[in-house]
Amino acid sequence: MPGLTAPSDYALEPPRHPALQINAKQPFNAEPPRSALISSYVTPVDFFYKRNHGPIPIVEDVEKYYFSITGLIENPKDLFMRDIMMLPKYNVAATLQCAGNRRTAMSKSKTVKGVGWDVSAIGTAVWGGAKLADVLELVGIPKLTSVTKSGGKHVEFVSIDKCKEENGGPYKASIPLSQATDPEADVLLAYEMNGELLNRDHGYPLRGIVPGVIGARSVKWLEAINIIAEECQGFFMQKDYKMFPPSVNWDNINWTTRRPLMDFPVQCVICSLEDMNVIKPGKVKISGYAVSGGGRGIERVDVSIDGGKNWVEASRYQKMGAPYVADDISSDKWAWVLFEVTVDIPQSTQIVAKAVDTAANVQPENVETIWNLRGVLNTSWHRVNVRVGHSNM
Ligand code: MTE
Repeated sequence: MPGLTAPSDYALEPPRHPALQINAKQPFNAEPPRSALISSYVTPVDFFYKRNHGPIPIVEDVEKYYFSITGLIENPKDLFMRDIMMLPKYNVAATLQCAGNRRTAMSKSKTVKGVGWDVSAIGTAVWGGAKLADVLELVGIPKLTSVTKSGGKHVEFVSIDKCKEENGGPYKASIPLSQATDPEADVLLAYEMNGELLNRDHGYPLRGIVPGVIGARSVKWLEAINIIAEECQGFFMQKDYKMFPPSVNWDNINWTTRRPLMDFPVQCVICSLEDMNVIKPGKVKISGYAVSGGGRGIERVDVSIDGGKNWVEASRYQKMGAPYVADDISSDKWAWVLFEVTVDIPQSTQIVAKAVDTAANVQPENVETIWNLRGVLNTSWHRVNVRVGHSNM
């Protein structure tokens, strides 16, 4: 494609921050230390996790870059960056979370297949771009459409990167047309992240952002958008990012029995402590993040300092100095909530955190009950063992 090319090797990868923990080198998959996530509500780009399935595409000439919108529509079109920039610009604070976040912990209960992740395959950015609902109007699809005249019901995002899971083909995913054309769903074609042009790792020059949904559907480096009748048949929709019951293994799996994961469930993680940290006896501030999919707010975060027998409620905030009110117009509905509580820890113990969202959904107590062979959606209570002793902390 003019303007954007996809290398087939890793010779021209972009520079990355040395503090990232690298979980796989090629394709590049890395996450920041968990403490970085709570140093600010908006995650700096350098510390935002990077999740790739192939070498990072290269923009040769952004003026020449365009993507096409085709499929079950009357007026297919090629759109250049200037066409997108002419539409109203929206800034949406949204948390992106990989469905594989906390996979390493799930694999400790029983082996799973996939890149290992600690608790930081997640981050919150202010994404700047055009609403997909406005873009689709340019090809004659009105707002709040669930089916086009020619039977289109899904919007497929197609990238240009070369992924081995697609036998060297591009990464792709789809969302329902009803969500894509709903301005309230805030689905973006984003060209900015935290007020700066997207960088190469995060999808330069243009990516989809689907708030409240697992990160796998926010396709980077867009080459085409197809309006299709059935959901995308690509590997990452049909043969991955699905959740199976604990009884399913690699011998009896039937991929067609499960739907692709979309909204992520309620999640919460302690970021101020690593497992087996040694702390001094006395007051300790426990802090972390809590988030739920589908735009649901966080109703409560409970913290226990005795392995889950007794609980105290943590305070929640998004913006410093402003109280967080779940599902209120003043809060960022697609973004995480940070929490903190100060507790007295006299002896070595297990600290636990769990959140409740505004639909009263809760997290499962144990990882075993949600174990699945791909290690997705580990949202079990987050546990951190601490040893009380004499350290410099
Ligand atoms: N888009 C393309 N083209 N290629 C990819 O490998 N990975 C997906 C999604 N979009 C991916 C992609 C996954 S699984 C996630 S979690 C997010 O991008 C990660 O986005 P980030 O690297 O900007 O954090």
